[in-house]
Amino acid sequence: MRMLGDLSGGVLNVAACPDEALLRLVSPAGWEALTGRPVVLERELPNYLAKKPLAVLCQRWRESTASLLAQSGIPVLLWGNELPPGLPPGSVALPEFEAEEILPRLEQLSSPQDFAGKTVLVTAGPTVEDIDPVRFLTNRSSGKMGVAVAWAFAVRGARVLLVHGPMTAEVSKLADLERIPVRSAQQMHDAVREHWHEAQVAVLCAAVADFRPDHYVPQKIKKIEGEGMVLHLERTPDILAELGALPNHPFLVGFAAETDDVEINALNKLRKKHCDLLCANDIRKPGSGFAGDTNQITIYAPDGMVRALPMLSKQGAAYCIVDEVARRMN
Ligand code: PMT
Repeated sequence: MRMLGDLSGGVLNVAACPDEALLRLVSPAGWEALTGRPVVLERELPNYLAKKPLAVLCQRWRESTASLLAQSGIPVLLWGNELPPGLPPGSVALPEFEAEEILPRLEQLSSPQDFAGKTVLVTAGPTVEDIDPVRFLTNRSSGKMGVAVAWAFAVRGARVLLVHGPMTAEVSKLADLERIPVRSAQQMHDAVREHWHEAQVAVLCAAVADFRPDHYVPQKIKKIEGEGMVLHLERTPDILAELGALPNHPFLVGFAAETDDVEINALNKLRKKHCDLLCANDIRKPGSGFAGDTNQITIYAPDGMVRALPMLSKQGAAYCIVDEVARRMN
C-alpha cells in the first residue's frame, strides 16, 4: 500500500493509495475503513498532486508513478535505497521507513532551512548527582522540552548537538542530531565547555542540579538504628552563567523554571546570565513545566520584549522559540 501525504496549514494529511491489485482484493471504501484514511485512486493522482503544495510520499517506487512525481515539482519521500534520477530537489529516499518516521520527514521537507550550516547546542533533561553506589539526587525533568527544541532546530536544517542527562524523552533518529549523553552537572558542564565554540546558538533547557553531595561515598552508606543522616551539599557549576560570561558566546537562550515571582526571577536570570532570550515556565501551572507534553512559556529579551505564548505542546512551544531566535539572528 502506498501512502500519500501533504502538509496543508501545518497539518499532515495522509491518504491511502491502493494500486489495482489491492483494489481487486478490497474496495476503495474498504481500504478507507481499514486504514482510517481517505483513499486516493491512482487515476486521481494527477489531480491530487496539482492541489497539494508541499510533499508527497509513497511506500514503493513504481515506474508508473515515477514520471508523474517527477513532473509534479513536489519533493518526494520514498521507500528505497536511492532516489531515481529526475526527482524535484528536496526529495528523500528512506530505506525501510517506518510509519512514525513519516511525519518528522515531512516536517523537514516542508520547513525553511534557515539554520542550514549552523550548529546549535541544546542541553536537556535532568542531571543526576550520585551520593553512593545506590542513591542519588535528581529532579523531575523528562527531557521532553529540550528534545523538542533540538528537533525544532534540526528540521530547520541545523546541526544539533544535544547534551542530555539521563532522560525518558525519546529522540528521533532522523534529524541531523548528535547526542552527547552525560550524567552529572559537572559532566554536562564539561561537555558544553568542549563544544560551545562550535555553536552559533546555545539553548540551555536542562534542569541542572544546583547542588551535589560534597563527596561521593564509594560503598553503600549503612543506616544506623535510630539515627538520621546529614548530607553535605556543595554548589555545581552554573553552565549558563559561565557561557554568558564569555565575551564571544553563541546566541544564548536560557530557561527558568519558577514557582513564584516568575517575571521578576526570569528578568533577573536574563540579566545576570547575559542571555539573548530567556524562556520562563511557571511550573505550578497545570500543564506547564516538568514531564508533561505541554508547556506555557513566556519569552523575555534584553530589549524589553515579553512574548507570552499560550499553552502549547512542547513541540509547538519549541517552534515558537526557534522562530524568535531566527527573527533576531537573521
Ligand atoms: O524536561 P521536561 O520534563 O520537558 O521539563 C522542561 C523544563 C521544566 C525542565 C524546562 O522547561 C525548564 O524550565 N528548564 C530549565 C530548568 C531549570 O533548571 O531552571 P533554573 O531556573 O533552575 O535554571 C535557569 C537556567 O540556568 C536554565 O537555563 C538552566 O539550564 C541553567 N542552569 C542552571 C543551573 C546550573 N547549575 N547550570 C545551568 O546552566
